[in-house]
Amino acid sequence: MQPLLLFTLGDHGKLEPTLRAAVGAEAGRCEVRHFPDGESYVRVLSDCRSRRAAILCTLRRPDERFLPLLFLAATLRELGAQSVGLIAPYLGYMRQDKRFHDGEAVSSRLFARQLSAAFDWLVTVDPHLHRYASLDEIYTIPNRVVHAAPLLARWIRDHIDNPVLIGPDSESEQWVGAVAAAAGAPFQVLEKIRRGDRDVSVSLPLLPEKIAGATPVLVDDIIASGHTMLETIAQLRAAGLAAPVCIGVHGLFADEADARLLAAGAARLVTTDSVVHPTNAIGLAHVLAAAIAELEPAHA
Ligand code: R5P
Repeated sequence: MQPLLLFTLGDHGKLEPTLRAAVGAEAGRCEVRHFPDGESYVRVLSDCRSRRAAILCTLRRPDERFLPLLFLAATLRELGAQSVGLIAPYLGYMRQDKRFHDGEAVSSRLFARQLSAAFDWLVTVDPHLHRYASLDEIYTIPNRVVHAAPLLARWIRDHIDNPVLIGPDSESEQWVGAVAAAAGAPFQVLEKIRRGDRDVSVSLPLLPEKIAGATPVLVDDIIASGHTMLETIAQLRAAGLAAPVCIGVHGLFADEADARLLAAGAARLVTTDSVVHPTNAIGLAHVLAAAIAELEPAHA
């Protein structure tokens, strides 16, 4: 059986070679660029006839990636690939999961429909599941969700003395609780009110005495504009707690949020390598490889 042919769209740093080795995949070769007018040019250079193929493409800034991704997947099929999977460590467009205002596009569902039509399977990491119980509510293809919680817990155990985990809102309670349990640390969940994309307030409940001397570790699934963490840092600092370590599964860091978080008093920023960034400290290759092996057992 030939190995999985793994194509990559965009920069994934060390994740790409590490994942390829962990899966035992062969590197697929393709050329993707833009014409001067901004249109995308895609050319497959590997022979993909009767091959199982997959594309590694994290979907931060999905609008830039989406068309080349669809062109590449469709071209692989036209050229004879047997199947085409998508490995999107960060899956964009998950947060608009309802029509908050009349007339809005429920983009999570529309995006899922397009990807489900283009791919045979999907592997991702901690998608933002709030109003959907699982990806199966909007994705119609086989999928595997990798949970970063055990990796975050291990990083916290190895690097932080006396941590107390802080989740910014009730949505985060379930999985901040899971990270805390695995790290053997207490946790506290705050209350968040979001009034706009960059307008967030967070309230700090009365903190138990025992966490006064602990190191706060803010944990969230996504750091996007950074406002959720900025607000939380401000509250913690005002309450006299130590400089917090901020951990995000997916560090998107729009508007230079990383610099603003450090300036606001974060002791350190830590992310997984779902989106390549200098804060990457937690590698996902091996957990992604295990999930791929469940969908592509011949390549385990
Ligand atoms: C939202 O519910 C998520 O869990 C994150 O809290 C949110 O996406 C963070 O966004 P931002 O960094 O823009 O505040």
